[in-house]
Amino acid sequence: MDASSATRLSFLLTLLLLTFIPTPSSCRSLATTVRCNKDDYNALMEIKAALGNPYHLASWVANTDCCDWYDVECDSTTNRIDQLNIFQANITGQIPAAIGDLPYLNTLVFRHITNLTGTIPSTITNLKLLTMVRLSYTNLSGPIPSFLSELTNLDYLDLSFNQFSGSIPSSLSSLPNLTVLHLDRNDLTGEIPESFGNFQQSISLYLSHNNLSGEIPKSLEAVDFVTIDVGRNKLEGDGSMLFKANGSAETIDLSRNQFMFNLSMVEIASNLQYFDISHNKIYGSIPEAITGLNLQYLNVSYNRLCGEIPQGGRVQNFDSYSFFHNKCLCGSPLAAC
Ligand SMILES: *[C@@H]1O[C@H](CO)[C@@H](O)[C@H](O)[C@H]1NC(C)=O
Ligand SMILES: *[C@@H]1O[C@H](CO)[C@@H](O)[C@H](O)[C@H]1NC(C)=O
Ligand SMILES: *[C@@H]1O[C@H](CO)[C@@H](O)[C@H](O)[C@H]1NC(C)=O
Ligand SMILES: *[C@@H]1O[C@H](CO)[C@@H](O)[C@H](O)[C@H]1NC(C)=O
Ligand SMILES: *[C@@H]1O[C@H](CO)[C@@H](O)[C@H](O)[C@H]1NC(C)=O
Ligand SMILES: *[C@@H]1O[C@H](CO)[C@@H](O)[C@H](O)[C@H]1NC(C)=O
Ligand SMILES: *[C@@H]1O[C@H](CO)[C@@H](O)[C@H](O)[C@H]1NC(C)=O
Ligand SMILES: *[C@@H]1O[C@H](CO)[C@@H](O)[C@H](O)[C@H]1NC(C)=O
Repeated sequence: MDASSATRLSFLLTLLLLTFIPTPSSCRSLATTVRCNKDDYNALMEIKAALGNPYHLASWVANTDCCDWYDVECDSTTNRIDQLNIFQANITGQIPAAIGDLPYLNTLVFRHITNLTGTIPSTITNLKLLTMVRLSYTNLSGPIPSFLSELTNLDYLDLSFNQFSGSIPSSLSSLPNLTVLHLDRNDLTGEIPESFGNFQQSISLYLSHNNLSGEIPKSLEAVDFVTIDVGRNKLEGDGSMLFKANGSAETIDLSRNQFMFNLSMVEIASNLQYFDISHNKIYGSIPEAITGLNLQYLNVSYNRLCGEIPQGGRVQNFDSYSFFHNKCLCGSPLAAC
C-alpha cells in the first residue's frame, strides 16, 4: 500500500468512526454535522454503482457525509455537490446517466481514464449550472452531441484526446460564454462550421490532430482568437482571415495542412508568441512585423515562402530548421540573400 492509499484508508476509518452512527437516537445531534443533501447522496451512490464500485471511489461510503468524500466538492453555503472531478482512475465503463441528477454541478471532470468508453449521456443537459466540462484522455466515441449547446453557462469545454468522430456540431458556437473549446486529438471529419464565426467571447479554439477538411469559413474573420490551433488536419485554401492586427492572438498553429495563401498580406497581432505554419503551401514573404513580437516559438518551414527573413527582434533566436524547405527564403539564419 502506498502513502496516499494509507492516508485514504485512515481517513476512511476516521469517517466511519465519527459519522457512521446508525442508532436513531443520535440522528438529532448528527443532523447539524452531516451537510450532504439526500438527493445528491443518492445520485452519487448510483454513479458509484454504475461505475462498478471502483476502488478509486472507496471514500464514497454509505451513510457518511458525501461532502467529505474525495472527487466531489460541496458548495459551502448550499451544501449541494457542485463539483465532480474524477482524475486518473482505473475505471471501466461509461459515464453514468445519473450525473444528470446532480443539478448544482458547475464542474464535471472525467480525465485520464483509459477504459471510460461510450458516449456523453443526454442527461448532462439537466446540469444547467455547468461552467466547466472536461472529458479528456478517455476513450469516448461517437459524434460530439449537439445538445451540449444547451449548457448555456459553459465557459470551458474540453473533449480532447478521445475517439469522437463525425463532424463538429455547429451549435457549439451558440454557447454565449464559451472561452475555451478543446476538440483536438479526436477523429473528427468534415468542415469547420460556418457558424464558428459567431463566438461571442474572445476564444481559444483547439482543433488539431483530427481529419478536418475543406476551407476555413470566411466568417471566422469576425472571431477574436486568443489561440487558434488547427494543426494536423487536411484543411486547405486561405487561412489569412485568422490573422488580425488588433486581435488577441497569442498562438496561431496552422501546421501540417494544405493551406495556400499569401503571407505578405497578413497583419499580425502584437501578442503573438507561438507561430507555427510549417508544412503547408503558403507563399509570399514573412511580414516585417514579426521582428516586434515576443516570440517563443516560430516555424515557417516546408512552405513556398520567398524573400529576406526579417532581421531583428527575436527572429534570429530560431535556427535554420524554423525556416528551411521554402522556395527562396534567404538571410540569417539561412544563407545570405
Ligand atoms: C483497462 O482495461 C484493461 C482490459 O480490461 C485492463 O487490463 C486495464 O488494467 C484497465 N485499466 C487501466 C487503467 O488500464
Ligand atoms: C485496474 O483494475 C483491474 C480490476 O480491478 C485490475 O485487474 C487491473 O490490474 C487494474 N489496472 C491498473 C493499471 O491498475
Ligand atoms: C484508448 O484505449 C486504447 C486501447 O484500448 C489505449 O491504447 C489508449 O491509450 C486509450 N486512450 C486514452 C486517451 O486513454
Ligand atoms: C455569461 O456571460 C454573461 C454576459 O457576459 C454574464 O453576465 C454571466 O454572468 C456569464 N455567466 C457565467 C456563468 O459566467
Ligand atoms: C484520417 O483519414 C484517413 C483516411 O482518409 C485515415 O487513414 C486516417 O487514419 C484518419 N486520421 C485520423 C486521425 O482519424
Ligand atoms: C480591429 O480593427 C478594426 C478596424 O481596423 C475594427 O473594425 C475592429 O473592431 C477592431 N477589433 C478590435 C477587437 O479592436
Ligand atoms: C503577395 O503579396 C504581396 C503584397 O501584396 C505581393 O507583392 C506579392 O506579389 C504577392 N506574392 C505572390 C506570390 O502572389
Ligand atoms: C519546424 O518544423 C520542421 C518540420 O516539421 C521541423 O523539422 C523543425 O524541427 C521545426 N523547428 C523547430 C524549431 O521546432
